[in-house]
Amino acid sequence: MPQPAPIGVFDSGYGGLTVLRELVNRLPQYDYLYLGDNARSPYGTRSFETVYQYTLECVKWFFEKGCSLVILACNTASAKALRTIQQNDLPKIAPDKKVLGVIRPTTEAIGNYSQTNAVGILATSGTVASQSYPIEIAKFFPEVEVYQEACPIWVPLIENNEINNHGSAFFIRKNLHSLFQKGKNIDTVLLACTHYPIMQDQIREYLPVDVKLLSQGAIVAESLADYLQRHPEIEALCSKTNKREFYTTDATEDFDNHATLFFWEPVRSNHVDLENSGQ
Ligand code: DGL
Repeated sequence: MPQPAPIGVFDSGYGGLTVLRELVNRLPQYDYLYLGDNARSPYGTRSFETVYQYTLECVKWFFEKGCSLVILACNTASAKALRTIQQNDLPKIAPDKKVLGVIRPTTEAIGNYSQTNAVGILATSGTVASQSYPIEIAKFFPEVEVYQEACPIWVPLIENNEINNHGSAFFIRKNLHSLFQKGKNIDTVLLACTHYPIMQDQIREYLPVDVKLLSQGAIVAESLADYLQRHPEIEALCSKTNKREFYTTDATEDFDNHATLFFWEPVRSNHVDLENSGQ
């Protein structure tokens, strides 16, 4: 019988911390184990196969740590790896464990925000290319038109703390202009990359005032609360001692310096070398 363990929260780097922040706010009683694969980020421009391999390695690491529930707090990993992991890998390696993503909970809710039935998606190239958002939104809100814009420069700008200069303003304006050229009646824009909320003030500056700007964290947290209520057998395996632990595949000092920006409180991380951790 597995012992209760923290809820695993995964991202390619720092972005998932914006989701973890909301999870901790909404469900503070649980323990959380965060892993950022910073050594191999960004994932957004990598191939399906690579993102799948990297994500699977990280998921296995969470399982070794005893986690029964892992959240892929990364759209790119949710878009490119989640389905294969759920359908092909879990039945073989861990039939009793669950891996959830951030796209499904967001697409279940997004149509409720739009009056014009036109939604804009800002995401990494990988998430856009996967077509996950248009496909998933069509299942829940077939009347909603989805317009996507890949913003490949945004994650590097954020990870390098370059969001408050003319260079980032240029790229924000460029990508928003291109999005609204595609969908002139968009009234709701989703930040479909967990890094982007860090830049939301800057993005807001260049959006028409009547357009809603949505981040995923709170939506994902609400959906997880609901999931845990509907799955008491999984909930029972989530430990509740108010602990948060952070791991990175890269240098801990860098991680700790950057992480506060995303998590809004000081972070002390540990290093993990996935290649030597039995993967
Ligand atoms: N934060 C990740 C996401 O939500 C992407 C960052 C990356 O490109 O690695 O898609």
